Amino acid sequence: RTGARVERQALARYTTLGVGGPAEVWFVGDHAQLAEAMEAPYRVLGGGSNLVIADQGVSERVIRLVGPLAERDLEPDPRLSAGDGVVTGWVGGGVPLPGLIRTLQKSGLSNLEGTVGIPAQVGGAVWMNAGTRYGEMFDGLHTIEIVTPQGMRQVSPNELQWGYRNSGIPRGHVVSRVRLKLRRSTPSAVLEKMDAADQARKGQPKMKTPGCAFKNPGGVSAGKLIDDAGLKGTRIGDAMIAPEHANFIVNLGGATAADVHALLDVIRGRVGVPMELEYELWP
Ligand code: FAD
Ligand code: EPU
Repeated sequence: RTGARVERQALARYTTLGVGGPAEVWFVGDHAQLAEAMEAPYRVLGGGSNLVIADQGVSERVIRLVGPLAERDLEPDPRLSAGDGVVTGWVGGGVPLPGLIRTLQKSGLSNLEGTVGIPAQVGGAVWMNAGTRYGEMFDGLHTIEIVTPQGMRQVSPNELQWGYRNSGIPRGHVVSRVRLKLRRSTPSAVLEKMDAADQARKGQPKMKTPGCAFKNPGGVSAGKLIDDAGLKGTRIGDAMIAPEHANFIVNLGGATAADVHALLDVIRGRVGVPMELEYELWP
């Protein structure tokens, strides 16, 4: 046995929506513990900022990256860095993205500032290719380490099929660590770019939420489509379509996953354009 800590816990505490029943949570801090956790059916939990987890919980093991897999070495690697280009040491998949983005800004390192304000972990953000119109995770990656039950491999981003909110990494393949590819700039120049991305977030609700419910279909704002259907403020139980931005469902306090699913059905029934769900529903 590798000594991974295993505890049965309610998953609500790990999600930004604040919803989710119990599961066996595996806290894995190194590759041996990760391999052991993957010996039975599993799911990977990042920052829980894109998940609607069932009130009954899930039957699979839930893997959470901690310890060394949630640490970061931002020292430029001298073998890989040259001129303005910086390649960092390893950054764990479990590292919270917001703090990383702040640190890079203070160090005057550019490429990932467009992702400011996304409440993810590095691994989850890479897996989804989280981003905004100001930039996405793809812009700042040099190497991605991916672990599966069959073993580990390190790939360069251009070996994957990237897209909008999609890295091409198959579900269940764990982003354990990455090396960042950055460009030397100045703290004030990076901050200026961040401010623009921050500004675009001003109209988003401040309550418990898993972010945007639907991907923008064909570049049209899903939020605008839901708004045009007159659905802002629609409420089922303690889940509500945010009055500030219609692509956000918020938890007023006691929302259940069932409330959120019911609201998603209302939206699908009322918006004429087919929209792909951005959230992930567990199970
Ligand atoms: P989770 O929600 O925990 O998991 C999501 C998926 O990623 C699951 O399939 C999970 O298995 C997988 N996953 C997690 N960690 C790993 C890993 N280490 N390896 C492999 N797979 C993994 N998203 C945007 O793109 N742009 C935005 O502007 C944006 N704004 C948001 C604002 C708010 C207020 C909120 C709550 C969310 C927002 N989101 C946004 C959505 C969300 O932050 C992103 O989808 C993010 O990528 C989810 O990352 P996570 O670590 O929280 O993953
Ligand atoms: N709009 C409305 N009503 C609404 C919402 C939006 O009319 O209820 C209009 C706005 O006025 C604006 C347009 O639609 O003219 C676009 O809105 P916004 O700028 O908020 O952008 P978005 O396309 O709705 C996208 C991402 C967000 C990201 C923001 C800011 C998707 C699905 N959403 O939203 O990402 O934070 O841009 O960059 O791609 C997420 O993915 O979870 C997410 C929050």
